[in-house]
Amino acid sequence: MPDLVMKDISKSFGAVKALTNATFEANFGEVHALLGENGAGKSTLIKILSGTLRPDSGEIILNEKKLTINRPGDAVKLGIGTVYQELSLVPSLTVADNMFLNMGETTIFRTIKKKENIKKTEEILKRYEIKGIKPSDVVKNLSLPFRQMIEIAKVLSRRPDVIIMDEATSALSDDKVQWLLDIAKSYAREGKIIIFISHRMAEVRSCDRITVFRGGVDVGVQKNSETDADELVSLMLGRKISNYFPEITDRTQEEVVLELQQITSGNLLKDVNLTLQKGTVMGVGGLAGQGQSTLFQVLSGALQARGKIILRGKQVRFNNPYQSQIAGVGLIPEDRGSQGLIFPQTISENIQLPVLGKMKYMGIFTDNNRLKNVVKDAMTRFAVKAPGADTVVTELSGGNQQKVVFAKALSQLPELILMFDCTRGVDVGTKVEIFNMVRELAKNGHAILYYSTDVEELVNICDQVFVMHDGKIAAMLKGKDITKENIILALVGEQVQSAIGRGRRKWQKQVL
Ligand SMILES: Nc1ncnc2c1ncn2[C@@H]1O[C@H](COP(=O)(O)OP(=O)(O)O)[C@@H](O)[C@H]1O
Ligand SMILES: [Mg+2]
Repeated sequence: MPDLVMKDISKSFGAVKALTNATFEANFGEVHALLGENGAGKSTLIKILSGTLRPDSGEIILNEKKLTINRPGDAVKLGIGTVYQELSLVPSLTVADNMFLNMGETTIFRTIKKKENIKKTEEILKRYEIKGIKPSDVVKNLSLPFRQMIEIAKVLSRRPDVIIMDEATSALSDDKVQWLLDIAKSYAREGKIIIFISHRMAEVRSCDRITVFRGGVDVGVQKNSETDADELVSLMLGRKISNYFPEITDRTQEEVVLELQQITSGNLLKDVNLTLQKGTVMGVGGLAGQGQSTLFQVLSGALQARGKIILRGKQVRFNNPYQSQIAGVGLIPEDRGSQGLIFPQTISENIQLPVLGKMKYMGIFTDNNRLKNVVKDAMTRFAVKAPGADTVVTELSGGNQQKVVFAKALSQLPELILMFDCTRGVDVGTKVEIFNMVRELAKNGHAILYYSTDVEELVNICDQVFVMHDGKIAAMLKGKDITKENIILALVGEQVQSAIGRGRRKWQKQVL
C-alpha cells in the first residue's frame, strides 16, 4: 500500500463538482507533481489534505492509518505542512513574528519570546539560504518573491513529513525556483513526501512522479522518466497534443523593423545594439534585474535612454508610452493586473481603450460600429473564451485574462510587439495557444521581442535569442546555437559554446 492514499475523494461547491471520486497516492521519498489545467481540482484536493476543506466523501490514509482531518490544526499535528497559492503571511508583522504565528502562543508569551524568535528566525533564514532579509523586516515591505520564500521557510521549519506546495513558485524567478526544487529534493531524500503543484512544465519535469487531474478526476499517474510532455499535456487537456511547442518555420524577412544603437541607461543598460527584422521572434533571456525589463521600458516609452531607436528606418523618441503605441509598438506587460487590464471593466471596454486613444489622437470621431468590430475581431483572433464582450474581466480565468491583454495590446496590429514573460502564471492549455499566436504573428510579418523566464520557451519559440547580463547583450544566439545549455551559460555570464552539430534538440527529449 502506498504511504499516502487519498481515496475516492469527492467535493462539490453548490452545483460545481470540484472533485469526483478522485484518487491520489504518493510515497515517502518522492517529489510528486500534481498537474492539471486551472479548475482541475488540484487546490481542492490539497486543501482537503491540509484541513482547510472537508470532503463530501472519501478517505485519507497515511502510514496505513486512517486520518481524521477536520481543521488545519489537525493536519499540522499529523505532520502535513502546506504552502498555499495565496500567501498567508500577515503583512503588518515582521518576518520573525510571522514565522512563529499560529503556534498556539498567547500574545504576551510571544512578546517574552521575541528575542528567542528573532534568533530562531535568523537560524531558519540561514538554514534555507535566504539572503537579504532580516528577521525584523516588516513583511509588507518585502518583495513578492521574498514573501513567498518566507512562507516556504515557515512551513518547512516545522519539519512536516508531508509538504504541499501549491503554485509556490509562481512568484519566484528562475534561480529561486531552483532553490525551491533543490530543497524539495533534499527533503525527499530525507524520506518525506513533497506534493508539488506548478504550471511550469520544466518544474513538473524535475519531479519524480506526476499525477494529472482533469475536471475533478485523476486521469493518470506517470513516472517522469517514462513519459514526455506531449503525453502529459494530452492527458491534461483530454485531447491529443502532438506539439506542445509549434513547429518553427523561419519567416524572417529582410526588412528591418527595429534598430537600436548604443542604448544606454545608467548602470541598467549599457550600449545595447540590436537589429530586428520583420517576421522574426527574437527571444530575450536574462536573470531578474539584468536590464531586460529596462530595455522593454525604453521601447515602450516608459523610460528614456541615451542612444538611438530607429523604427522602420526613422529615428524615434518616446517621451511616454502613448507615443510608443502610436508609433506602432504593442506591449504585453509583465503584470497583467496593474499594467495590462483595468479590472472592474468589461472585455470590450478594455480592448477599446487603446483604439479610442488612437482615434482621438488622429482627430477622428468615435465610430461605435467600428469599435464593436475591432473588439469582436480581437476576441476571435486571440481566442478569448467568455460569455460575451460585456463580461467583466475579473470573472475570467487567468489564461483568458491574458488573452484579453493580447487582444487589447494587439488589436491595432502593431508592427513591433514586446512580450514580457507573457506565459507566466498561465495554464498549459492557454500556453499552447499563446505559442501558436506568437508564431502566427511572426508569419504575418510582425517583429516580436519575446522575453521569457522559461528557457524552454526561448529555445522552442524563437528564431534568434539574445541573453542579457549586467545591462549588456551577453550573447546573441542563432540557429543551432540556440540551446538550453548556451542560454544558461549566458544567463550566468559565462562564455557560450558554438554549434557542435547537434542541432536544436527536440524539447521533450531533453532531460529537464
Ligand atoms: N470555494 C469555492 N467555491 C466555489 N467553487 C470553488 C471553490 N473552490 C474551488 N471551486 C471550483 O472548484 C473547481 C476546482 O478548483 P481548484 O481546486 O481551485 O482547481 P485548480 O487548483 O486545479 O485550479 C473549479 O471549478 C473552481 O471554480
Ligand atoms: Mg489551484
